[in-house]
Amino acid sequence: MKTAIIYTTKYGSVKKCAEILKEKTGGNADTYNLQESPDIRLEDYDTIILGASVYVGRIQKEMVDFCLKNNTLLILKRIGLFVCAGEKSEKKYEYLKLFRENILNISISNKVFGDEIYYEKLNLLEKITLFILKGVRKSYSNLDSEAIDEFVTDLDLLKGH
Ligand SMILES: Cc1cc2nc3c(=O)[nH]c(=O)nc-3n(C[C@H](O)[C@H](O)[C@H](O)COP(=O)(O)O)c2cc1C
Repeated sequence: MKTAIIYTTKYGSVKKCAEILKEKTGGNADTYNLQESPDIRLEDYDTIILGASVYVGRIQKEMVDFCLKNNTLLILKRIGLFVCAGEKSEKKYEYLKLFRENILNISISNKVFGDEIYYEKLNLLEKITLFILKGVRKSYSNLDSEAIDEFVTDLDLLKGH
């Protein structure tokens, strides 16, 4: 019973969430940054967690392409999906469809984990976009530990599935 946590990130919030999840499994999971290691032996895992972050309504192209390419295999697995996103309204759950609706539909758990901003790392365009979207001009961490814990429970990760 092996778990793979496969993610894409721009500035590290999703990576941080992947590491939190791994820690909660007692280290009993392999983590892959899809942007660095695209070749993953999915057949080695029965539980696959996919995580990505939202920028202007989209998740990373590498994750979209990965879900499309591996769709047939993924829908046979125990799937967990999460996004890091700053949206607070119910609209945030729409982002989970970006992994593909058929994967979302068979997922055991799917959550929005909240967001972090590493303001000093953003380029000028991102700083302007962030200000327009949210009126924000500073770094913060607003991860939803309750959502993360629910996700771990839903997927039985503590038991090392
Ligand atoms: C330029 C910019 C655009 C963003 N657009 C959205 C958005 O459309 N919806 C949303 O919910 N969050 C948005 N966010 C918040 C990010 O999803 C959040 O910062 C996330 O934690 C980033 O994760 P990462 O560091 O793993 O890439 C945006 C952030 C930035 C800097």
